[in-house]
Amino acid sequence: MSMSARVPPVKLARAVEWTRHHLYGLNQRLTPAPAAVFEMILAGWTSQAITVAADLGVADALSEGPLSIEQLAARVDADADALRRLMRALVGRNIFRHRRDGRYELNALADTLRRDAPVSMRSAARFYGSHEQRERWTLLIDSIRTGDGVVAALRGKESFDYFAKNPELAQLFNATMTTVSKLTDATVVAGYDFSPFPTIVDVGGGHGPLLAAVLASAPASRGILYDLPSVVADAPEVLRGRGVADRVLVAKGSFFDCVPAGGDAYVLKNIVHDWPDDKAAQILRNVRAAVGPRAKVLLVEFVIPDHDRDFPGKWVDLEMLLNLGARERTAAEYRKLLGETGFRLTRVVPTASPLSVVEAIPA
Ligand SMILES: C[S@@+](CC[C@H](N)C(=O)[O-])C[C@H]1O[C@@H](n2cnc3c(N)ncnc32)[C@H](O)[C@@H]1O
Repeated sequence: MSMSARVPPVKLARAVEWTRHHLYGLNQRLTPAPAAVFEMILAGWTSQAITVAADLGVADALSEGPLSIEQLAARVDADADALRRLMRALVGRNIFRHRRDGRYELNALADTLRRDAPVSMRSAARFYGSHEQRERWTLLIDSIRTGDGVVAALRGKESFDYFAKNPELAQLFNATMTTVSKLTDATVVAGYDFSPFPTIVDVGGGHGPLLAAVLASAPASRGILYDLPSVVADAPEVLRGRGVADRVLVAKGSFFDCVPAGGDAYVLKNIVHDWPDDKAAQILRNVRAAVGPRAKVLLVEFVIPDHDRDFPGKWVDLEMLLNLGARERTAAEYRKLLGETGFRLTRVVPTASPLSVVEAIPA
């Protein structure tokens, strides 16, 4: 079965999302209001417990079969009693299973924490639960007061420059982006036809997982993967693993300096959302300088919907605010930003995931 064959139709995905939202509301109404809020206040505990399980490698230790708590503690170098308490809490949230014989084993949710799981959430758990990330979120109040990011004040450098000096955290971040890509790329490829474009440039494409998925769906197309030198250094391995390395030119540089010319489609996935309007405009102007008159620009983003239901992009928006004073945008905001940088928004194509493809052409 191909990746795209597993993608549900957009309308079905929206109906499931609507249903989950209302079931969640029902769940809250079955709980006294203060307790429902208390549950949300304490959600950070669950999150940190998952991070600890990921940091310790508990799921990997269980990958060959069930273990007693003593065996497990010895494998992951933990105190057996403390680990049993961690597992008890996680089992209650359906992460890991506690067998009748007392041993622990993987279940569907725990399996995603294995390093080699098909879509491994291990790096994401370790990145979002890292000390650096947690510390940043404790300063959300500053961002809400000032409307600015906190990373520069906290670290003395802006996010991506800080990563350049912290290879371990940068590696976790890039692996997390690749994971997130695995969760959503098939929906982008199922939702938008890339096959008409002979050359597709992925601007800020990280290690290249989206470009690989796009090229797999467009066998006659070639790709250019563009990102910072330290990031694209690890891309060839990903591209080889996906069988598209011979169709991809890897180019390194900063999109604040220039963007490779010669593309028929320019994909920017979760790039514009990383930056406040002035910087986002600078990137788009550099794309505008590189594109020919018939090229298309495709921003793959969490376009903020006009409903008040929960939507992942509303939370990523806060992460973007903390990061660089950046933001997620509505379709109207993308239309304006594109209009100011020499493009005309032609349509917003929804996908089965929370991402949409904002399509634009040179004005
Ligand atoms: C949020 S990640 C998105 C990565 C990828 N497009 C994806 O969706 O998985 C932002 C990307 O922008 C890249 N980036 C940041 N600053 C850059 C710059 N000045 N020039 C080129 N790429 C940059 C980062 O290295 C990172 O890969």
